[in-house]
Amino acid sequence: MPAVHGVTGLRDQVQRWRLAGERIALVPTMGNLHAGHLKLVEEAHRHATRAVVSIFVNPLQFGPGEDYQSYPRTLEADQAKLQAVRADLLFAPAVEEMYPGGRDQVTRVEVPGLSAILDGEFRPGHFSGVATVVLKLLNIVQPDVALFGEKDYQQLLIVRRLVTDLSLPVEIVGVPIMREADGLAMSSRNQYLTPAERQQAPLLYRTLGETAAALRNGRRDFSRLEAEAMQKLSAQLRPDYVSIRAAHTLAAADTNTRDFVVLAAVWLGKARLIDNIQVTANESRRGPPLPQNS
Ligand code: PAF
Repeated sequence: MPAVHGVTGLRDQVQRWRLAGERIALVPTMGNLHAGHLKLVEEAHRHATRAVVSIFVNPLQFGPGEDYQSYPRTLEADQAKLQAVRADLLFAPAVEEMYPGGRDQVTRVEVPGLSAILDGEFRPGHFSGVATVVLKLLNIVQPDVALFGEKDYQQLLIVRRLVTDLSLPVEIVGVPIMREADGLAMSSRNQYLTPAERQQAPLLYRTLGETAAALRNGRRDFSRLEAEAMQKLSAQLRPDYVSIRAAHTLAAADTNTRDFVVLAAVWLGKARLIDNIQVTANESRRGPPLPQNS
């Protein structure tokens, strides 16, 4: 599978495909690929005839003191994995290619409101960095469709809003979370966990599952449910938040809400883990059954 590192080379190849009547999908990633990313590529093949994958550890979306320097960069191994799932092209630009004028002065886009809540409260500037690089990647590749994992649920909604607000001619597809056998959502950051922490990490999904079950069973005392979940998580993890929101808008849930999403972020050692479960009233969605006795 070929790799290109420059915008011009990328555009030349995509243009050739487009002239031949092909439909182009983009899977934006930061690399260190796991089965969740590969599922995005497999899904891309269902939506397009060519799957372009970008690997770019975007400095704009990391705050001071976050893991930009240490974020795992595994390009060669990633390329082999992409080959195995028949990706058609890897776009792996350097920072200088993406931000030739320097990253400090670069034009940024902001999706107001949605970017300031939940993860945005704990990671100021993060979603502006995400929106900026996603807009750039969409402009560079000009795909028909772009695919994003639902683990980053807030990011997915922000990208959808960006695309709507700026009238970008691209379809955004969300792909369900891939989980380990014990329920832990797959994430590049899971590799920061020590073996002991890895044992504790499924508490996040279990707790979200219990909150989701309570919603399905008709409980609507949202603040209390959130507080109970925070307490359970705090036994072993350091939660930033647990929040029950309306799934389509991330507005605070109320008694008229039918489609919920329960979102949480926790710290475990050096890793900050996020996860979510969507719940439609009287009906659960997604994820394997909860482990029984752990
Ligand atoms: O989800 C990610 O890996 C990143 O936030 C993305 C969308 C590739 C932008 O850098």
